[in-house]
Amino acid sequence: MKISIIGAGYVGLVTGVGLASVGHEVFCVDVNEEKVKKINSGISPIYEKDLDKLLKKASSKKLISATSDLKSAVLNSDITFITVPTPSQNDGGIDLSFIKKISHQIGIALLQKNKYHLIVVKSTVVPETTQDIVIPLIEKYSKKNVGQFGVCMNPEFLREGGAVYDFMNPDRIVIGQLDKKSGDKLAEVYKNFKTDILRTSLNNAEMIKYTNNALLATLISFSNEIANICQQTPGTDAFEVLKGVHLDKRFNPILNNKRVNPNFLTYLWPGCGFGGSCFPKDVKALAAFAKKKNYNPLILSAVLDVNKKQPLQLSSLAEKNLGTLENKKIAVLGLAFKPNTDDTRESPAISLIKELISKKAKVSVYDPIVNSNNIKSPLSGLNFKFANSLDDAIKGKDACLLVTSWQEFKNITPELLKNGTKNPLLIDGRGFFDKKEFEGKTNYLPIGKNINKKNIQTS
Ligand code: NAD
Ligand code: UGA
Repeated sequence: MKISIIGAGYVGLVTGVGLASVGHEVFCVDVNEEKVKKINSGISPIYEKDLDKLLKKASSKKLISATSDLKSAVLNSDITFITVPTPSQNDGGIDLSFIKKISHQIGIALLQKNKYHLIVVKSTVVPETTQDIVIPLIEKYSKKNVGQFGVCMNPEFLREGGAVYDFMNPDRIVIGQLDKKSGDKLAEVYKNFKTDILRTSLNNAEMIKYTNNALLATLISFSNEIANICQQTPGTDAFEVLKGVHLDKRFNPILNNKRVNPNFLTYLWPGCGFGGSCFPKDVKALAAFAKKKNYNPLILSAVLDVNKKQPLQLSSLAEKNLGTLENKKIAVLGLAFKPNTDDTRESPAISLIKELISKKAKVSVYDPIVNSNNIKSPLSGLNFKFANSLDDAIKGKDACLLVTSWQEFKNITPELLKNGTKNPLLIDGRGFFDKKEFEGKTNYLPIGKNINKKNIQTS
């Protein structure tokens, strides 16, 4: 099939490369000429494992190309996927300006087409967007009635860092369909993907995407709330507590005498909060949508509130144990919102760094990938420095605060901490280190554990 994809970012390019890999002919469209050039020379503008390799392979078979000419891409294809951004507005509501612009442009292109064309919304959009915004705009500018063109809403569930794998091995394909003809055509696109296909309404498909992200974000904030209660309660350790909960057979069934250990349990662990380009924006968008529907989303609001405060648990633990943060040398370990990505959007590290600076700490930051030369959204105006290496980051510090679970941080040992001139406090914001290795040997403080200050060694 001939497929155009509007917006060649994380979702658009991965979808394009994935669909080309199963034999479709794909035209990626982007306003960013640099991206278009790179894609046409077989180089991925974003870092995702295997993306370059598959892009090169598909390019060599002439199954994928990029252009900034939306109209010709739409006219040369049978199906158009919309994968443009849907960011947050200042009030947290969804900004649909990209979606509106593209719907308008697709409509204008379809004015010149008499053959049936299917439009697939893949961007994350709040319920009723496809029905009430995308369809009317395409109808208006194409001068056609819906039905003469088909429409589907097909949410994407890939994760950054494993985007290609997730796309090529989906756990489900949700097809929100205007009508059977639209759904059948999209199902044909995915015929080589062996997974569960859920065919449903446009509004349900939109809501499934938000419900999924909001549930995962809720598990994280719930675990963090438990951790914060444990922190105030002598003799408790949130990681032990949640380990006990993970053994509930309803969450973690036993099959053939073995625990299944479902992946979702990893979201039921305490940490220093969720970040990235999706959870924060999507929970905010769903909450704002609910309010528009005259429903006060109490749980979603609490999920966001807990998450906003959670990174500050690390600075507050440091302050309690050091007495003050003023002039204390603090290392923040990790700037990316999660390991294996260079994405720093909404990273908990950012609000933590701001808090530490506001308390007059001397902050240095170390991330195995993100540094001053490649950071995509610079933290302008913030007074901190980047450390050149892990050793450099730790040496001579009063406290090291772990934010991102990068594998490189496993190189931190009690001995390495003592190598410096000081024996810094190590605050583990992710339950990342083996407690047995650190407790009693160094000033180790995990979140979610009530530790009497008397038990902490002083340097
Ligand atoms: P992105 O910012 O990586 O990519 C969007 C692309 O659209 C950019 O390359 C941009 O240049 C392009 N673009 C903007 N305006 C355009 C226009 N008028 N014409 C053509 N191209 C245009 O965004 P993304 O992360 O791929 O997210 C896209 C959508 O997918 C969002 O709704 C997001 O919530 C959703 N989503 C993202 C992920 C993820 O992991 N990133 C996962 C699932 C769903
Ligand atoms: C998330 C969802 O997992 C994807 O299914 C979805 O498609 C995507 O949002 C989206 O809609 O854009 P992503 O943000 O790439 O994907 O990454 P996750 O690995 O889910 O991490 C999100 C946040 O949760 C991170 O801050 C991470 O640190 C935190 N997290 C993640 C945990 O606290 N525990 C985990 O086990 C995994």
